Amino acid sequence: MSKKPIILGIESSCDETAASIITENDQGYPKILSNIISSQIDIHKEYGGVVPELAARSHVEKIDLITKKAINESGKKLQDIDAVAATAGPGLIVCLSVGLSFGKTLASSLEKPFIAVNHLEGHALSPKLDTQLDYPYLLLLISGGHTQFLSVEGLEKYKRLGTTIDDALGEAFDKTAKMIGIEFPGGPKIEEYADKGNPNKFKLPKPIINKGGCNLSFAGLKTAVLKIAKNIKSKQEKYDLAASFQKTIEEILYIKSKIAFKSFKNINPKSNTFVVAGGVAANKKIRRIILKLCEEENFNAIFPAQELCGDNAAMIAMVGLEKFKKKQFNKLDYPAKPRWPLDENAIFLKGAGIKF
Ligand code: KG4
Ligand code: ZN
Repeated sequence: MSKKPIILGIESSCDETAASIITENDQGYPKILSNIISSQIDIHKEYGGVVPELAARSHVEKIDLITKKAINESGKKLQDIDAVAATAGPGLIVCLSVGLSFGKTLASSLEKPFIAVNHLEGHALSPKLDTQLDYPYLLLLISGGHTQFLSVEGLEKYKRLGTTIDDALGEAFDKTAKMIGIEFPGGPKIEEYADKGNPNKFKLPKPIINKGGCNLSFAGLKTAVLKIAKNIKSKQEKYDLAASFQKTIEEILYIKSKIAFKSFKNINPKSNTFVVAGGVAANKKIRRIILKLCEEENFNAIFPAQELCGDNAAMIAMVGLEKFKKKQFNKLDYPAKPRWPLDENAIFLKGAGIKF
């Protein structure tokens, strides 16, 4: 039997310092040997959001230790690693630079290939860590910085079908949480609050729901939440606002995903696979509504494991593994790229004044 590749993944694009070792099992499917994530929530909490310089400093302090831990837990030795894959973008430049330089240095000292990974491609391929998934598939990427429908045709082959024209969905969750008085990062807490509230208490807008194809918009919804939040006092009203927001998001995603199915089918008539990935894909109610839609539309819904929705290095190693098998390596002068869209040909679609 030929030796299975052993890939080290490194992630430092925002506020998680992460390292992971993955390989393949005897059937040729990816296998996670270790997946270490160190979150910086406590550092940024008092500022109500991520402070880039503090995040970068913390990455510098931790990256060495986290990587050592990932190697120890994997049961492998440093010398066993066949390639080092590190996130090169998109993200905060000061943060990206830490993991990227560390990864390059390690690869160079081990005399092993270096692989630069697009963080968004990591999310896109994250379900492959525990599910068999063939190209092409439709992807809804919902994270703190991005919200897009993409046709995933292969490694580095993406066609954007729709995008948010203003806020990302994770951002909308976090801002709503802040307005309700939930501590940063509040996104996941909205779900808990929503469980205790009346989803029909507040009527919230669904911007561009009847136009713009499967493009999305959340800014108007956020403004409406702010207006209500200013006038609510009781805990129950907060629960009701969270529930109404959660329900509105479910309705928006249901309608827009249905439209995305049609666009996707036009270019890939034989594929019925719908992947929902990124931090917000951890939301159980969103998963439920997507499952319902897929049942109605004869699509197969695939989500990454709950713990692989948020930022992690296993998904970076996953992209590294696919690139390693295709011998797609990068030079050590590969730059950090704060902006790095999956579909480089997609037109910029952001801000007021966009007409559909
Ligand atoms: O993918 P991710 O970890 O980081 C980025 O690449 O942006 O996504 C983080 C986002 C945050 O906005 C967070 O509030 C949101 O995902 N999030 C959630 C849930 N868990 C994380 N939003 C809604 N419901 C959740 N359960
Ligand atoms: Zn992410």
